[in-house]
Amino acid sequence: MDSLFDSAEGGEDRESRLAELARQVAVCTRCDLALSRTNTVFGTGDPHSPLMLVGEGPGENEDATGLPFVGRAGKLLDDILAAVELTRDQVYLTNTVKCRAAVEEGGRMKNRPPRTGEIRACNPYLEAQMEAVKPEIILCLGGPAAKTLIDKNFRITKDRGKWHELAGGVKAMATFHPAYILRQRGDDLKQTKRLVWKDVQAVYAEYQKAMEARG
Ligand code: URA
Repeated sequence: MDSLFDSAEGGEDRESRLAELARQVAVCTRCDLALSRTNTVFGTGDPHSPLMLVGEGPGENEDATGLPFVGRAGKLLDDILAAVELTRDQVYLTNTVKCRAAVEEGGRMKNRPPRTGEIRACNPYLEAQMEAVKPEIILCLGGPAAKTLIDKNFRITKDRGKWHELAGGVKAMATFHPAYILRQRGDDLKQTKRLVWKDVQAVYAEYQKAMEARG
């Protein structure tokens, strides 16, 4: 199907493939998150980038706008990328699940982590995005993305910052999720920021290598 599609386009047409997938996601009912969502949040950025970032899932702001990482965690993600002189337009940004996971608490909906079944139901879309974008490097933001893409037993505190090889030779690393960083205080905050900085430097070095290899 992919190869048929590619040849019909006379080569790769990542934008059209992603647009078609986004249309499928917009009407998806593969799990119950479809019942409470306002918008699906598919992904943004450069589909030709060697670097893909995968977060956990949309929160309230993302659900309202249909765009990934637009709340406080998103602002911090922009700052993290800016530290290595990258912008979100230079990477492809998506999540393990495309709909907000929320729970009612005290009369209002609060974000909650997506359940394993929800992540599994959404995984074909993430896989299809990876097939379309063909990233050379993937940075998982937080444990759920790392568990989905790297190893189901991934422990973010122990295993972050290490390179793993995925199918097709894709290099993958995980670092702390920006929302986790925002919850730290004092020395924990300093230490977490230091580790994320180190991880992002290593990812950027690979990004530069990939860009140089493209000429
Ligand atoms: N957190 C995520 O993991 N993804 C988003 O899109 C926003 C916040």
